Amino acid sequence: MDRNLALDLVRVTETAALRAARYMGLGDKNAADQAGVDGMRRMFDTLDIDGTVVIGEGEMDEAPMLYIGEQVGRGGPGAPKVDIAVDPVEGTISVADGMPNAIAVVAMAPRGCLLNAPDMYMDKLAVGPKAAPYVNLDASVADNLRAAAGALGKSISDITVAILNRERHAGIIDECRRVGVRIKLFQNGDVDAALATCFEETGVDMLLGIGGAPEGVIAAVGIKCMGGNFQGRLIPYGDEEESRCALMGIDCSKTLTLDDLVKGKEASYAATGISDGALLRGVTFSANGIARTHSVVMRSETGTIRYVEAVHNFNKKPLYAF
Ligand code: FBP
Repeated sequence: MDRNLALDLVRVTETAALRAARYMGLGDKNAADQAGVDGMRRMFDTLDIDGTVVIGEGEMDEAPMLYIGEQVGRGGPGAPKVDIAVDPVEGTISVADGMPNAIAVVAMAPRGCLLNAPDMYMDKLAVGPKAAPYVNLDASVADNLRAAAGALGKSISDITVAILNRERHAGIIDECRRVGVRIKLFQNGDVDAALATCFEETGVDMLLGIGGAPEGVIAAVGIKCMGGNFQGRLIPYGDEEESRCALMGIDCSKTLTLDDLVKGKEASYAATGISDGALLRGVTFSANGIARTHSVVMRSETGTIRYVEAVHNFNKKPLYAF
């Protein structure tokens, strides 16, 4: 894949973030999501790719745009055929409530390389590079915590585990407490929390728990770029999701390794902060039609991580100009 495509992705996430950030704290998560989706969709069409959304905003009949199977990009002869995983507003409730951790995020890989699955739940385990070879979603929480502590050269009481604050995680939280690790509960946005495991300065050593599958695939791409480890298991709720998975040839009992989620070495990840998070600052608006965004772009092939600080001048290029 042309390396410049990764940089093009930042324009896509910046546009989604700028539009969604207008809805910060306004209490309307659907409007925030729609703004992000519209911005992302329009920007995709300026890219020279022949893209297919393989996991994203939902099924065709439930999502007006960026649904699973939707074609994005200008296409045409010679355009690279790519898989796209999208979350135009990862943390819609965070945006609506004016809370942290919301990002606009996109992952891309050559056609056939990203997991194609319904928008459903996924059980997740993420760690950074040092602990990467030593953890396994099929092992117990206690075993994984001890393995990570050993790999990181930390005592168990210095390990910090990020867990989405949901009742369904009571068992994991109990197990973490029994083992004696520190727990960082967060309200929304498990892509940011998963990626945080790869950046030592965040102090997060592991992410555990169930969240969205699109967020899982996207996080897996980012973590592959960083040399960490991410594993997932799809969790179908109800007969409909089970049969949808069966139709797509997915075995939900299987633990998906990082290479099952993201095949090969050529994936790219781009994210722009909507509200402040562990890795990215949120959008700020200044006087005279100026806004600032903070983004990250990563490529798994080279492991390059680029932070992009952008100043947007709406007088010259209005936010809704394209
Ligand atoms: P949305 O922006 O799609 O609402 O996702 C936010 C999020 O917190 C994700 O980061 C996470 O994977 C998922 O929701 C968890 O789902 P739920 O809120 O149903 O527990």
